[in-house]
Amino acid sequence: MIDLSEQQIAKLLQAAQQAAQQAYAPFSRFYVGAAILTVGGEIFTGCNVENSSYGLTNCAERTAIFTAVAAGALSAERDLVAVAVVNREGAVCSPCGACRQVIFEFGPEAVVIYRAKSGEIAQTKADELLPEGFRLR
Ligand code: THU
Repeated sequence: MIDLSEQQIAKLLQAAQQAAQQAYAPFSRFYVGAAILTVGGEIFTGCNVENSSYGLTNCAERTAIFTAVAAGALSAERDLVAVAVVNREGAVCSPCGACRQVIFEFGPEAVVIYRAKSGEIAQTKADELLPEGFRLR
């Protein structure tokens, strides 16, 4: 797993917190923000966007990743370097299964930063969060 500096981690967590302020979560009231670091050194952020038709909800991590793809900053298997996810409450929260698969697509080796069950901020490699992630090619 790549070694991010304390400064890089702090920057990602701060960007994720800022993104959580934009979260649209009137149904769950669980306001999530994510920040990702690309191989090009760019940071993209995202928030969760819920919908009256609940199943259409998009998590913060996927919003950030899809935004980076649309900007042309993520296109290959190793382009995603790190993902930080936070929520307004500072509650324990790691990426859901769907987000783990989307993270895996662009960064099986990406460092995922989240508040673990221990209450501490943890760093775990994406392919440890999702062993044997699915890949078509
Ligand atoms: N959510 C995220 O955005 N990311 C996560 O890592 C966990 C869950 C969102 C989805 C939904 O809007 C709300 O949190 C409650 O599940």
